[in-house]
Amino acid sequence: MIAFKPVRGMRDFLPEEARIMRFIEKQARKTAELYGYKEIITPVVESYDLVAAKAGEEVRLRMYAFEDLGGRKVALRPEFTASVARLVATTLRNEPKPLRLFCVGSLYRYDEPQKGRFREFWQSNFELMGPEKPEADAEILLLTKRFMKSVGLKNIIFKVGHVGVLRSILSQEGLAEEVQNQAMQRMDKKLYEEALKIVREAGASEKGIQTLQSLVGLKGEDAAKVLEKMRKIVEDYPEAVEAVKNLGEILSLIAEAGEKINITVDAGFARGLEYYTGIIFEVYVPELDIALAGGGRYNKLVELFGGEPTPAVGVAHGIDRMMLALQEQKAEINVEETRPVMIIPVSENLNSETLKIAEILRAENIPVELEVMGRKVSKALEDADRRGISHVVIVGEKELKEGAVVLRNMRKKEQTTVKIGELAKTLKLQIS
Ligand code: HAM
Repeated sequence: MIAFKPVRGMRDFLPEEARIMRFIEKQARKTAELYGYKEIITPVVESYDLVAAKAGEEVRLRMYAFEDLGGRKVALRPEFTASVARLVATTLRNEPKPLRLFCVGSLYRYDEPQKGRFREFWQSNFELMGPEKPEADAEILLLTKRFMKSVGLKNIIFKVGHVGVLRSILSQEGLAEEVQNQAMQRMDKKLYEEALKIVREAGASEKGIQTLQSLVGLKGEDAAKVLEKMRKIVEDYPEAVEAVKNLGEILSLIAEAGEKINITVDAGFARGLEYYTGIIFEVYVPELDIALAGGGRYNKLVELFGGEPTPAVGVAHGIDRMMLALQEQKAEINVEETRPVMIIPVSENLNSETLKIAEILRAENIPVELEVMGRKVSKALEDADRRGISHVVIVGEKELKEGAVVLRNMRKKEQTTVKIGELAKTLKLQIS
């Protein structure tokens, strides 16, 4: 017999992990509600051309892509943004803007498995479609902070940059988008020398290269100071100056919103996905050197998919990494869990009566676990104790003749006889 294991890069979530994952998902849904985002559910299988269009080399080469039996080139989604943009370009085309859309689910990338990096992972994803204003960008960062805090994460740090600054310089230097993408990919991987080599070979001026070189490595927590330095560095590139101004507006709005948010502005920051046009950001905690979330503004994607020009900004939160961060921070997760009541027949001929009583309790919304292993009462009580069950209903012949059962409080080690008709009410009083 072969002992099967999950495929490399895939994982099973056992009950305790599944509980934490669903708790994070619940908080994501609450956040969506708080900010007015409506949930949509998109397919796991998408057309390859859609998800590959602006995924960037890094993600594109790591897709689970295959031909389906109908000969279509498809891929397991590596992210949500392309799917949401597809919907906004087509079915939701005429919906009034802004559109606030939320999704949660599994994504697939053939990444090298390591700590916090899996081939199947989970995101909660927020997209705000329509507005160009900095308030929209601020909203995405603020909701991210609130969500992270609501699950119990501490000391969150935002790393923030602006693709518009870098792209404006490269455009003014006459570099084609394809070359820009190649340079940005290298910058994303912090291969700055390689990035500058690409830019130089594509014909950028010495001034252009020096401008980029000065931006790389310019970072700090005093946003005003970093932004002022950025503005000076890019002063001969009018669109880049505008982009710096835009970043400043967004950061001021966030600062004015009240919540203290730790932000490091990083002038040389780039992200692998190619659709970004404005602010970009990632979220970290001090305990981990991998990003818990990432996002940014992308104003051209919906149009690229045949829709109306639709400015947009969004974020994806990596649920697996949030779980890891909670573990690293030794966070207490207060997930309310209703412990079921256990119901035990004293002998096998009472099985159908026991089942009936269990159903009466469930109809009253009381979770009930039936003893199904055919154990003797003493063994079944031991098992209930081991699993932390607080109340046990024992169905015995003698009590049943009087329309009653025995209710045992496992914590207090006390038991009373209760009429079946009164059982749900009595249990509710004791459980709550
Ligand atoms: P991303 O940075 O590629 O952005 O992914 C967002 C988050 O997903 C990452 O910060 C990380 O937490 C998690 N993640 C990515 N890959 C893996 C992996 N192999 N294993 C575990 N977690 C992973 C996006 O996906 C964009 N769609 C975000 C966005 C939305 N931009 C605008 N709107």
